[in-house]
Amino acid sequence: MKPVCNKRVIKMKNMVCAAMLGWSSLACAENLYAHYQSQAESVYTAMSLDEKIGQLLLPSYLFLANSVSPKGQTCQAAMTEVPRAPVAKIIHECGLDQLKKYHLGAVLTGGGPYFNAPTLQNWAELNSWAMAQHDSTHDPLLFIGNDAVHGNMHVQGAVIFPHNIGLGVTHDPELIQQIAETVGQDSLASGFNWVYAPTVAIAQDLRWGRTYESFAMDPMLVKQFSQAYINGLQSIQADHITGALATVKHFVGDGATHDGFDEGDDQSSLDDQQFWQANGAGYEGAVQANVGSLMVSYNAIEGDTTRMHLGGKWDLLNQFKRTSCPNAALPGLCGFAGFAVSDWNGTTRAAYFYAKATQKVLSLEDMMAMSINGGVDMLMLGQDEFSHPFDIHSPANYTTLAPVVEAIKSAVLHHAISEERLHEAVTRILKVKFAMLSKEPADYAALQTRERELALQAAQESLVLLQNDHHLLPLNAQTIKNVIFIGDTNDLGLQNGGWAVNWQGQKGSEYFTGADKISSGAMTLEEAVRARLGDAVHYYHRADLNNTLTFDHTDTLVISVLAENPYAEFMGDINSTSVKDAWYDLGAAQNYNLYLGSPQLRSLELNFKTEDLNALTLLQTKGIPSVTVIYSGRPMIITQALQTSDAVIAAFLPGTLGGAAVSHALLGDYHFRTQPQSNVLTFPWPRTMQDVEEHFTNYQYLYPVGYGLSD
Ligand code: BGC
Repeated sequence: MKPVCNKRVIKMKNMVCAAMLGWSSLACAENLYAHYQSQAESVYTAMSLDEKIGQLLLPSYLFLANSVSPKGQTCQAAMTEVPRAPVAKIIHECGLDQLKKYHLGAVLTGGGPYFNAPTLQNWAELNSWAMAQHDSTHDPLLFIGNDAVHGNMHVQGAVIFPHNIGLGVTHDPELIQQIAETVGQDSLASGFNWVYAPTVAIAQDLRWGRTYESFAMDPMLVKQFSQAYINGLQSIQADHITGALATVKHFVGDGATHDGFDEGDDQSSLDDQQFWQANGAGYEGAVQANVGSLMVSYNAIEGDTTRMHLGGKWDLLNQFKRTSCPNAALPGLCGFAGFAVSDWNGTTRAAYFYAKATQKVLSLEDMMAMSINGGVDMLMLGQDEFSHPFDIHSPANYTTLAPVVEAIKSAVLHHAISEERLHEAVTRILKVKFAMLSKEPADYAALQTRERELALQAAQESLVLLQNDHHLLPLNAQTIKNVIFIGDTNDLGLQNGGWAVNWQGQKGSEYFTGADKISSGAMTLEEAVRARLGDAVHYYHRADLNNTLTFDHTDTLVISVLAENPYAEFMGDINSTSVKDAWYDLGAAQNYNLYLGSPQLRSLELNFKTEDLNALTLLQTKGIPSVTVIYSGRPMIITQALQTSDAVIAAFLPGTLGGAAVSHALLGDYHFRTQPQSNVLTFPWPRTMQDVEEHFTNYQYLYPVGYGLSD
């Protein structure tokens, strides 16, 4: 008889169970949510069809606001009126009254910043007004979601942690867990009880704009870090999620698209087992951690016209949800007991690609039914104006909730969505809700202190010393009399990268001034070095170059920063001509220019501005030692930096404490590889574009995985 991997079996005979299954104890992860089955059943029975449909919908705040007024302007105006407009007015202008009207069970904020002043207080107030509008007749909880992917990104003045690529370099699951726990706490303090993290993509092409959301190239590390992250974020205690609900994303294969084209096609010719082995590890870690939700990916697998949102190849999502462990064919693909949420307008976008490939235009009803039958339990409805470019071949434009609700209702009444499937979707969501017992932090200031400590530690451990000629590092602070700063040494936005207050992040330090600068611990490298070395040292910039050329090389140092501009998602794609197809042409045709301004070049070469390069070359001829710090979302081609600098540090996107961390490493307050495994690469470092394009298959890369000097 096959053992059942339920809680009792695990507790009593974990070893036996694992051994009998011939599979690791991972497959026997306890299903926390099964405890709430009967509660979910009774609520389901009591709910009307409208209430059930309300559970399936996840509109963004912008969607709600835009349903009321063009571009949500009246909402913005009501939120920012001085003195503040009456709450009833805000609720109406921001469309929050739709929460009750449609019995909605969830809302999110995407992108950002949303408010003119995205403060903790503004978010906490808006979220609590939303919570108060929620119809709690039967529904136990309103989920309020955010993209706190490396800190509570929607709040100005929040601590921003290194992006996942940096966390991977720390090789420290305990630290990752602690960080995620504080991120969950910070989100709860601002009224968000659901966090869209971690991304567990295994980036396979450095041209992909989301490479920095990937922990590592090694599936085993991704599995370990994914589990640690979710353990921290959800902080499960005594059968309850006491932190924020986590979302493992994007299911599945988002990091394996052809040429690294975001939302593209995984043209890999792998069979289902190989595909899962290459891309599924993070989900196995997530099941082990009892993740409560999963986000479906935009990508396709080998030209599959239905993509993940409309069913997807091999029906992987349903397999992952329905197969009890172990799955004979794909051992790790099993046991997901939470609920699956679509990505931003994911269903509509998939329907667009489906129509394009098959010439079959899906009605709103058909696309909703396909998506829900494909395993999507909750549909994320983004901002209406952005869904337009994807709907131009389809009559199924929706800018308000009413047509979406009607479409799902009609699909249920016509049995295009079966009662069984509706039951499954709604009860999955309800079970996770019943498991939620989030506890807000008692002392927000203490939380931020802890976050700053963890962020500093993580930023330090995420630095990789790529080159250290003549053992330049660590520097002796006592001997330094002059420091010459070149390049972007004074820019917080470049340290943070994307998903920092704004979706795309932004150059400069706009959201980190005054009290927000202090609370976030934000310091640029230049500020941190000045703070450490003090006034006895003289500081110069490129503009002062002529005055510095006679300096003595024994007491002068050049510090330069070479950085990628911030970006998120497809905006960070390199060399993806196919992006034009999906985004540029349609966007342009509709006069949307959101996607036309990608700041990235068509190469992964990260070069200095000519003036900076000239200055560095000149200083080099004078024998002045120099160190270059790279802020980037991925390994890049940095030939210039390696040639002009004695020491080169890859800092990735280290966050608000990144400046302090680098300064510590330069000046011997932190030593590279302090921890046995920290400060080493989790992705190979390319020498040329050919290395990148050939996915390192010719092994001509500059530095391998595991590389990182000590000092
Ligand atoms: C991204 C997700 C994100 C969602 C909500 C999408 O564009 O792909 O990672 O969680 O937006 O903001």
